[in-house]
Amino acid sequence: MKVIQASDYQEMSQKAAKYVIKNVRRQPDIILGLATGSTPKGLYKQLIADHSQNGTTYEHVSSINLDEYIGLPAHDPNSYHSFMDEQLFQHINIQPHNRHLPNGETDRIEQECMHYEALIDAKGIDLQILGIGENGHIGFNEPGTSFASQTHVTTLSESTRQANARFFDSIHSVPKQAITMGIASIMKSRKILLLASGPKKANAIRRLLDGDIKESFPASILNHHPHVILLADNEALSAAI
Ligand code: F6R
Repeated sequence: MKVIQASDYQEMSQKAAKYVIKNVRRQPDIILGLATGSTPKGLYKQLIADHSQNGTTYEHVSSINLDEYIGLPAHDPNSYHSFMDEQLFQHINIQPHNRHLPNGETDRIEQECMHYEALIDAKGIDLQILGIGENGHIGFNEPGTSFASQTHVTTLSESTRQANARFFDSIHSVPKQAITMGIASIMKSRKILLLASGPKKANAIRRLLDGDIKESFPASILNHHPHVILLADNEALSAAI
């Protein structure tokens, strides 16, 4: 794993954007794997600024998101569909038919998981953007998830629901389940850019860089991937160095 240090969140976001833009320009029909959450917001802001100032085009780019809550309508302000629309999609020229997120509203959920995994296989993710949970989750793959997992339904841990409660009225409104790419699905990506910022992530980054690969710490599998960049700020790296 290649580690790149940034001084703070702003610099991490700028460096991440530079890397993503370089890849998009080099491969105009790139398939991007995208994440939600607080961490990539600065990256998305930079991509939007670059799109309007420098004209980087997303006309032929496709995106495949990591996850979506089960039971929230796509138009709910807290759905990941809404998040992606607001934070990125409506500000760049990525085509609606090229944007993919799991459908958390369907009652044929098993079929949706199979369909989503088939999409990942058919398209092939060129560059996956990842955040990391304080407990080491990637996507919504909580500790204990099989490294062989494909897209599946997962029950969110109490700590993940609490971490995400800041976006909702109360913890009771946070959905209990989500559809997520599995760990094996994520590992199929050609390249992975893992972002981490702030002191709350320091312990997870220390454990990741310890190199001990075990299912009780999902992100540890990334040590097995041939092309991962960890781009983290000083605070996230503070326990590792
Ligand atoms: C988001 C996702 C999650 C987040 C992780 C970190 O699509 O799959 O794994 O990346 O929970 O979240 P933040 O960035 O809010 O700290």
